[in-house]
Amino acid sequence: MQHIDESGGYGKNTVKKGSVYIRTIGCQMNVRDSEVIKGLLSAQGYELVDDAKEADVVLFNTCSVREHAEHRVWSIVGVLSRKKRRPLIGIIGCMAQNYKDEIFKKAPAVDMVVGPSEIDNIALYLEEALKKQGSGILGVAERKRREEIYHTGFYEKKDHAYVVISEGCDNYCSYCVVPYVRGRLRHRPQEEIVREVEEAVSSGIPHVTLLGQNVNSYNSGLGEQGMDFVSLLERVSGVKGLKSLSFVTSHPKDVSRRLFEAMRDIPVIKRSLHMPAQSGSDRVLTMMNRGYSVKKYLELVDLYRSIVYNGEVSSDFIVGFPTEDEDDFRKTCELAEKVKFDSAFIFKYSVRPGTKAAEFPDDVPQAVKEQRHFQLLELQKKISKLKKH
Ligand code: 5AD
Ligand code: SF4
Repeated sequence: MQHIDESGGYGKNTVKKGSVYIRTIGCQMNVRDSEVIKGLLSAQGYELVDDAKEADVVLFNTCSVREHAEHRVWSIVGVLSRKKRRPLIGIIGCMAQNYKDEIFKKAPAVDMVVGPSEIDNIALYLEEALKKQGSGILGVAERKRREEIYHTGFYEKKDHAYVVISEGCDNYCSYCVVPYVRGRLRHRPQEEIVREVEEAVSSGIPHVTLLGQNVNSYNSGLGEQGMDFVSLLERVSGVKGLKSLSFVTSHPKDVSRRLFEAMRDIPVIKRSLHMPAQSGSDRVLTMMNRGYSVKKYLELVDLYRSIVYNGEVSSDFIVGFPTEDEDDFRKTCELAEKVKFDSAFIFKYSVRPGTKAAEFPDDVPQAVKEQRHFQLLELQKKISKLKKH
């Protein structure tokens, strides 16, 4: 592994460098990471382009949560590497952390691998990789990112900003790779979050979404005076000029009556709750290590709806989790019917090596996963349509 000097890379460098194309595959956290990377690289003089064909450098910022995203990257890297004049290829983000230097063996055309904790040094890694093309630059240390990187002012959309409030996750849902690739839960200090929102709003961006794997476990960590998520919401919502404030994702075990009351009482907060249920079977929820029962989940939705008038609620579901049988799946459909979610994302379970669930047999045949996926999607489509009318 090449050693990178951590001292530099933040100042503006207006000398024109190569052109960079970034392909983002994954969740909002990846989208925000790509914005941060674009902000850092353009400050260093790189030109950002929208077409991989025009680029000297192609970076894949890829999610590792499901296997599907990784397959897409392997196949595009294969195509790029067969080109006569190929660009420098980098894999960054969760996928980089998941595979580390194995990537160089699996895809020798890859020049650079940089994990999510190291993206604040991206310009330095890239410089190194450009100098030593072909020697494999690796940056996968696990540490807290520098605060400065969130203040480049680079947002993909003109009217909306994602603002990270915490990184990593400590929940260890048995199927999930996030705690392993993004590390333990770390919170950004509240003043930094408020400052970033103020900067975004004063630059003309009226809509903000606060981002974290589990926003409701936010705590600025100052003991008794520590600011929890609801207090943070109250504070951020007071930023002058802010028109709407959203947040994702809410874990059912950490939402509270106070959160719902804040959503009711503070007009700028959007009445929309993304609270993944994952399954409607208690047996499966226990195996998933989710920390709640179906009964508890339903009670939370009832409480939310009784407090937040016209509040929307959405979910994620995983079908085909190890040992999920017809009865478990029927219960998931029942939950979807009972709650009548405004929308839901439905995923087929994929084994993530290193997770607890990878020790269970992946015993639901692919064809059954696909059939359940289709069935639940159709059900949800019907429900979403009815709700809109
Ligand atoms: N297989 C399928 N879906 C998964 N998710 C997380 N890990 C996996 C996995 N191994 C889904 C969950 C989560 C969403 C972001 O991705 O539903 O809420
Ligand atoms: Fe993964 Fe569970 Fe953390 Fe969400 S809460 S990121 S599903 S471990």
